[in-house]
Amino acid sequence: MSAPATDPSAGAPTGRRQILVTSALPYANGQIHIGHLVEYIQTDIWARALRMHGHEVYYVGADDTHGTPIMLRAEKEGITPKALIERVWQEHKRDFDHFGISFDNYYTTDSDENRVLAETFYRALKDAGLIEARDIEQAYDPVREMFLPDRFIKGECPKCGAKDQYGDNCEACGAAYQPTDLVKPYSVVSGATPVRKTSTHYFFRLSDPRCENFLRGWVGGLAQPEATNKMREWLGGVGEAKLADWDISRDAPYFGFEIPDAPGKYFYVWLDAPVGYYASFKHLAAQRGIDFDAWVRKGSTAEQYHFIGKDILYFHTLFWPAMLEFSGHRTPTNVFAHGFLTVDGVKMSKSRGTFITAQSMIETGLNPEWLRYYFAAKLNSTMEDLDLNLDDFQARVNSDLVGKYVNIASRTAGFLFKRFEGRVQDSAMQHPLLVTLRAAIPNIAALYEAREYNRALRQTMELADAVNAFVDSAKPWDQAKDSANAVALHETCSVSIEAFRLLTLALKPVLPALAQAVEGFLGIAPLQWADAAVPLSSAQPVNAYKHLMTRVEQKQIDALLAANRESLQASENPAAATCGTAAIAAATAAPAKAKAKAGSAAQTAEAPPGMISIDDFAKIDLRIAKIVACSAVEGSDKLLQLTLDVGEETTRNVFSGIKSAYQPEQLVGKLTVMVANLAPRKMKFGISEGMVLAASATNEKAEPGIYVLEPDSGAKPGMRVK
Ligand code: MSP
Ligand code: ZN
Repeated sequence: MSAPATDPSAGAPTGRRQILVTSALPYANGQIHIGHLVEYIQTDIWARALRMHGHEVYYVGADDTHGTPIMLRAEKEGITPKALIERVWQEHKRDFDHFGISFDNYYTTDSDENRVLAETFYRALKDAGLIEARDIEQAYDPVREMFLPDRFIKGECPKCGAKDQYGDNCEACGAAYQPTDLVKPYSVVSGATPVRKTSTHYFFRLSDPRCENFLRGWVGGLAQPEATNKMREWLGGVGEAKLADWDISRDAPYFGFEIPDAPGKYFYVWLDAPVGYYASFKHLAAQRGIDFDAWVRKGSTAEQYHFIGKDILYFHTLFWPAMLEFSGHRTPTNVFAHGFLTVDGVKMSKSRGTFITAQSMIETGLNPEWLRYYFAAKLNSTMEDLDLNLDDFQARVNSDLVGKYVNIASRTAGFLFKRFEGRVQDSAMQHPLLVTLRAAIPNIAALYEAREYNRALRQTMELADAVNAFVDSAKPWDQAKDSANAVALHETCSVSIEAFRLLTLALKPVLPALAQAVEGFLGIAPLQWADAAVPLSSAQPVNAYKHLMTRVEQKQIDALLAANRESLQASENPAAATCGTAAIAAATAAPAKAKAKAGSAAQTAEAPPGMISIDDFAKIDLRIAKIVACSAVEGSDKLLQLTLDVGEETTRNVFSGIKSAYQPEQLVGKLTVMVANLAPRKMKFGISEGMVLAASATNEKAEPGIYVLEPDSGAKPGMRVK
């Protein structure tokens, strides 16, 4: 058969739904990295899974282009903000296309549609009495003549005196404080000492009882218990009036939209950013003849979902729904928040090479569907953080996708093509194994919709195991040896290839490119959920089988890390390695970034034989570590297991061969020095995430003894040793 022209909506249980879905809009001054990709891949899988029911699904996105960091970044590069956001848009678009993110429209918040919509929202909120002008005092840079967001003020830590600390907390000692507490504060923009200055700002009156009442009702519909709890916390008890008004204006100079009838005042970027979802959809609607107003106005029967990271929940569950509600729009059907990505158990880090950009994945030639699969295998519907463990990534992709799934086709497709003209045995299509697989498909489709991708894939792989077991016991390679077994061989291959078709269907939201290749191989139309019930037919022979996916090689992972590893100088700005602040950090760390990308070979100064250059030395990330726990390792007479605090979010686990010299309790509480960017090493007892420095004699036999290094007093966990 060729794929029948099925009515695509036939499989949809609730009729044809209208669904608008969004991912958060990435800032237009930084590169897309694997942390972002968690979100875009998660949303894309969901959009694809719903499209496969035949629903009317529109998935829109855009670059978030306004605000101070973007303005300053452009200034630093000597270009206009428009030129900067145009270039970054091209980069982002390239990255999203590469990873198969199926935006129906990828737009920009710096568009006419967005300006008009932002003004419309604002006017409606003003008419509703929810906008108020108020004078406030703020830090001001008298040289650059601009107000300074907190992140653009630095100074000395009031606790420990460390220089160049941000206004909220100290990277050296961890102390938290207010920007006004900084000693010798200076503007990051000009170096000038900030002064206090008063100016009129516009506020969205979120504290108005109407907003609070509305939000108390709206929170009931949120899908995630963690998000509901967060929101309840923000709302507080009835009568507590915990919601604060929201400052939605910024003074010139600012890159953004000027507020109507308020010269020199601009919408704060977070006002026009979510409106950008609608602007992108509006642009699409105009092209496709969709009735935009019918989708977005109050009372609309369309559904609207926003996928976001947990860090921006506040904007999406308080401000945005309230903005929609009081401007005559429908409110989100749901907001789905995901957790943050770590790599090998810790925050993405430039010195470790785990701040992995989408671009580096393109350049090192990693198959983007490997990452899609891995993230999907880890994602569920909660806000829990998820970890990309590079060993596990390699093992999982190789064993599941290549070893289990692709293996089914490569074991049987050749026989079907050569011995049976590529035609399946029609009577084999009702084999019990296939009946089981078909029955599982609707469950798998439902797990995707419920955002339980890890369960959808676990079920799929269990089915793949069953199919492989079937092939193992039928032994087609033996059956093929004797022509008397032709009918049996034909059945084995037919069942296998139909099973392969069904597994492809189950994997299609995650692996769209692979599924497309399989559709080509099978000679069928694009698979939809309803096609589970429509088996292959002898009338439509399959084509010659070409291998579908290669294994992940260790050298590819090594190349990826190398491509992302920056010299210590380049990552001197520690904030650049954290994602929440990446956008701002990128604004200040741009030249370092460009340098690192220019290639390390050209940058490294040559050193005479037997010596290393300063650049070589700088590759070693030495850090002060505090031994917070220490224990003997059962089964080892050399090793102690250390838990180290190196000023990161999570502690490090390190095995160290110092048992002969120390009792565990002697070490607890001690400070020492560790190599923080040593590739994690799998040992018999677990993974060691670095190395502790200790002295010992060149001739250890003659002069035994091991001495762990200790810094002078005053050193703090996380400080760099150089
Ligand atoms: N521009 C705002 C969003 C405006 S939406 C109207 C923004 N941009 S961002 O570039 O910083 O982040 C875009 C999305 O990527 C956010 O949802 C954010 O949570 C997500 N992630 C950024 N780093 C991430 C990880 N390390 N892990 C998972 N998601 C991460 O916020
Ligand atoms: Zn400090």
